Amino acid sequence: MDFSFLQRYYPMYITGTLNTLALAFFTLLLGVVFGILLALMRLSKSRILKGFASSYIEFIRGTPLLVQLYIVYYGLPQITGMRFPSFFAGIIALTINSSAYIAEIIRAGILSVDAGQMEAVRSLGMSHALSMRYIIIPQAFKNILPALGNEFVVVVKESAIVSIIGIYDIMYSGNIIRGNTYRPFEPLIIVAIIYFIITFTLSNLVGIAERRMRISD
Ligand code: ARG
Repeated sequence: MDFSFLQRYYPMYITGTLNTLALAFFTLLLGVVFGILLALMRLSKSRILKGFASSYIEFIRGTPLLVQLYIVYYGLPQITGMRFPSFFAGIIALTINSSAYIAEIIRAGILSVDAGQMEAVRSLGMSHALSMRYIIIPQAFKNILPALGNEFVVVVKESAIVSIIGIYDIMYSGNIIRGNTYRPFEPLIIVAIIYFIITFTLSNLVGIAERRMRISD
């Protein structure tokens, strides 16, 4: 094995790593926002909202991310008549995908809060929306955190797929280096190591946050 290519090519890995982190960050941020919305819709009494959210979640979870990515990448310009940077298409596709999973995580978390909590605040005269915002969701958050942390790790790993539409992420940098050096093996080992460092760090951070929150129990 020969890793001397690193001397010349390491900046590419750095660019790729920064882009992967940015991709995952925006995906999770948007994914949590839309995930909460979808979860609340699925739990609402309105049959239309419920039906929409359920169909969305089932459909997105039942189709491959790769297909969703292609649909966004090729479909968006056709529908809007505008060209988008592939990075943008990548974030949209990943968000569409991840928000469906996050919605289910949040829904399960909300359902895990005892029904008596809602009854108690409602009997004090708080509106449903306010009770959700101040009483139920904060408690649900503690139950949600481990699964959400897991989703963070999944998004970082799954984001490798966007390299296929030319987004300069870790995987992409590995592919370029592979082509430039005529070495298929070593550059990919580095790619794997970088992904592992990110996911391992992330799961440790989530573990720490989890333990902190358990203290208050
Ligand atoms: N490889 C899976 C697919 O093709 C990705 C699922 C993404 N999962 C997630 N929890 N965000 O659909």
